[in-house]
Amino acid sequence: VLSAEDNEILTRVGPGTQMGNLLRRYWIPACLSAEIAEPDGPPARVRLLGEDLVAFRDTDGRVGLIEEQCPHRGASLFYGRNEECGLRCTYHGWKFDVTGQCVDQRSELHPFSQRIRITSYPVRESGGIMWTYMGPTDSMSPFRDFGTESLPASLVSANKEIIYCNWVQSMDGDLDTAHISNLHQFDAIDDVPDDGTDKPGYPSGYMSMKFWRHDPRAEIEVDDTWHGFRYAGIRTTPNGHRHARITAWIFPAISIISQIPFSTRQIFVVPADDVTTHRYNYSVQPVANPHGLGGPPFFTYEKYPFEMMSPSGVVDRKYTRENDYQIDRIAQKGTSYSGIADFRSQDAMATETAGPVYDRTREHLGSTDIALIRMHRLLLRAAKGLARGEEPPVLAGAGDFRAIRGAEKILADGEDWRVLGTDEDPTVREALSLREG
Ligand code: FES
Ligand SMILES: [Fe+2]
Repeated sequence: VLSAEDNEILTRVGPGTQMGNLLRRYWIPACLSAEIAEPDGPPARVRLLGEDLVAFRDTDGRVGLIEEQCPHRGASLFYGRNEECGLRCTYHGWKFDVTGQCVDQRSELHPFSQRIRITSYPVRESGGIMWTYMGPTDSMSPFRDFGTESLPASLVSANKEIIYCNWVQSMDGDLDTAHISNLHQFDAIDDVPDDGTDKPGYPSGYMSMKFWRHDPRAEIEVDDTWHGFRYAGIRTTPNGHRHARITAWIFPAISIISQIPFSTRQIFVVPADDVTTHRYNYSVQPVANPHGLGGPPFFTYEKYPFEMMSPSGVVDRKYTRENDYQIDRIAQKGTSYSGIADFRSQDAMATETAGPVYDRTREHLGSTDIALIRMHRLLLRAAKGLARGEEPPVLAGAGDFRAIRGAEKILADGEDWRVLGTDEDPTVREALSLREG
C-alpha cells in the first residue's frame, strides 16, 4: 500500500512534478526511428511526459523534437510542411528548424523570426529509437549506452506499444512473475510432451511454461544492484528442481525480462502522460543465444499466435478495453486461462482495467509483489531526493549498462541465481567470446 500522497508522487509526470523532474534527468525514448524514417517525410506526433511535441527529420537528415503549437497563433505543427530544412506551419507559413528557431515568416511585412524560438529537445538516434533529454540543459548527462550504439543496423529491432493507463501500473506487470502462472496460461501447454529438460540446466521454452503452470506460488528474491535490482522468481518443477527466472530493472523505467538462457532485450516504459504509456521494446545486443538454447519461443506455438507488428513498429492493437479485449468465454473455459488472445493483450487487460491511474491506497500486496514494491520505493526515494537537491541515481558512468541481463535456468544444487546472466555466467562468457571471435 502507498499513501495517497506517495501514489501521486509516484505516478504524476507532468512538468514541475517530482517524478516528472526525475524522469527528465534521463535520456528516454521519444519515438521510433521508423516513425520519421524519411528526410522531409511526415512528422510524428510525440506526447511525452505530458508535453505535446512534434518530431521530424529535415532535408539534411537532422532530427528535431519541438513543441507542437506554433508560437504565432497556436496551430499544430504536426500538420506542417516538412521542407527545405524546416517544418513550416501551414496556417501562415512560419517555419522552424530542428532547434526550434523560427527561420522564416512568410506572411510578415516586418519579419522578426530571429526573436522567435520554440521549445526543442536534443535528440539522439540509437537502436531504432529517437532518444531525448527533457531536463535542464545544465544538468544534461551523457547518453547511456545499453548496447545500441554498437548494434549493427541489420540487428536493430524496436517497437512501441501504446497502453492506456499510468506508466507505473504498466511497469508493475513487468516485475511480476506470479502472473505468468495465471494470466498467460493456456491448457494446450499440457498437450506438449515432456522433452526431458526438467533437470538442472536450460529447459525448453515449452517446458518453462509448464513449470509456470505447475507452480503458481513463486518465491521472490530481490538482489539490489548498482543499476536498481535484479530479482528471481523461483518455482519448483514437476521433478522437484528449482527453476529460476531472473528479471533485471534499470533506473528509471527499464525491465529486462527473463529469458532462456539469458536476456538483453529491454522494455522502456515511457509515460506519454499520466494516463497513457508507451512501451518501447528493443534489442541492445547481437544474438544472446548462439546455441538456440530453449528451442523456439512459445509464441511460435501454432495454437498460440502472437500479435504482429505494423510496419512502422507501432503495435497494432486489435484487443482493447472498448471491445472487452475480445474476450472469448468459451476459450476461457476450455483452452486459455484468460480467454484473451495473446500475451500483450492479456497484459493490457490486466493493467488498463485497474483504472487510468490506479489508487494504491486500495491495494493489498502479497508475497509475490516484492519486486515491484522495491521499484516503487527506489523511484520515490530518488524523486524525493532530487527535490532536496540530490543527484538522480544510475546516470551515465554509473556502470557498464551492456552487462545487465536477465536469465532463466533450472538450478543445480548450490547454484546461485545471482550469477546467472552476469559477466561471470559461463553461458554469457561463451556467447560474448563467440560474438567477439
Ligand atoms: S499559426 Fe502558425 S503561422 Fe500562424
Ligand atoms: Fe505479462
